[in-house]
Amino acid sequence: MAGRVKVNLGDRSYYIHCGVGLLAEAGRLLKPLKLAAPCLVVSNPTVAELYWPQLEQSLREEGWQPHLTLVPDGEEAKSLKVAAELYDACLAAGIERGAAIMALGGGVTGDVAGFVAATWLRGIAFIQLPTTLLAQVDASVGGKVAVNHPRGKNLIGAFYQPAAVIADLDTLATLPPREMRAGLAEVIKYGVIADAAFFEYLEENIEKILTGDRELLERVVLRCCAIKAEIVAADERENDLRAILNFGHSLGHAFEAVGGYSTYNHGEAVALGMVAAARLAVRRSSFSPQESVRLVNLLQRTGLPVDLPPLKAQALLAALELDKKMRHGRLRMVIPERLGQVKITLVALEEILPLIS
Ligand SMILES: NC(=O)c1ccc[n+]([C@@H]2O[C@H](COP(=O)([O-])OP(=O)(O)OC[C@H]3O[C@@H](n4cnc5c(N)ncnc54)[C@H](O)[C@@H]3O)[C@@H](O)[C@H]2O)c1
Ligand SMILES: [Zn+2]
Repeated sequence: MAGRVKVNLGDRSYYIHCGVGLLAEAGRLLKPLKLAAPCLVVSNPTVAELYWPQLEQSLREEGWQPHLTLVPDGEEAKSLKVAAELYDACLAAGIERGAAIMALGGGVTGDVAGFVAATWLRGIAFIQLPTTLLAQVDASVGGKVAVNHPRGKNLIGAFYQPAAVIADLDTLATLPPREMRAGLAEVIKYGVIADAAFFEYLEENIEKILTGDRELLERVVLRCCAIKAEIVAADERENDLRAILNFGHSLGHAFEAVGGYSTYNHGEAVALGMVAAARLAVRRSSFSPQESVRLVNLLQRTGLPVDLPPLKAQALLAALELDKKMRHGRLRMVIPERLGQVKITLVALEEILPLIS
């Protein structure tokens, strides 16, 4: 059981492979890329303990010489300090032009490993082996890589596409339920921004998906990747269309930041951001109250938070300004027009505050 999605970007096109048992197939799946034998595999202690043995075996069987290097588990791994340690690891492992850096883990590992791949020797091949649902449907696809600045998330980064993505659904079996739900927030996002039928499919199947049913998960991950691939192929550098992927994120990032990145994880904050955007949409666009209720219900059934925490105007403003989405005191927001279609609009801060206080 496996499928794949192509991200069409001319000579930088690549495949996203998705299915069960794929880490054990990684060596074979990556062979056509004709990369050098030594490679650097970046992971964290939690994920490496679970999945490094099978990845290592699969790579060695196909003649690779993988060097495992660990970064800390947690957002603090997305730092220039950890990136510097990875450059040292590249040197020690003899990672030259023609070799690859592989990221085995969630979005954190993928972002920092990708940042190093984008900059080491001015850019070498990068392979994503995402092990969280969020990374499989979102972070590993589309080529945004970054580390954090002490003053804000993802401020130092690049657009740098991977050469391949391999999403092994088996890895989701060990994912903590809270992380699974966080990934599902992004999954629901895809339904709202691009595919009403997919949204309905989620409404019909969410409980079964939450049990970890592989067949349903494969369908879900492939559909999300296909939606993101299409958007990225049309607007790789986020000049316009790609911004719709930020649905729920402008305010989501603010909820995340104000909660000190610990009260809410990314997916939970995005769920809250989508609730706020839906409320605004009911006032501002053709989005109906019934559709807004359907969104809130689906998020709730997924186990995601939907009650907006009160935010102080000043804290909100500070978070939004760092997020680069304010223009002349107004926030660039993605709001739904109906399920499956969104638009980008500028909203004054005074309009947002009543939604969240
Ligand atoms: N580049 C992009 O386009 C993009 C998009 C969305 C998010 N992101 C970034 O991704 C990060 C969030 O990613 P995430 O949610 O995957 O978080 P994460 O990488 O921190 O992983 C979440 C937790 O799950 C653990 N874990 C990972 N895989 C596991 C498995 N299979 N079994 C058990 N435990 C496992 C990790 O060790 C970690 O503790 C953020 O830094 C965010 O900025 C990037
Ligand atoms: Zn997100």
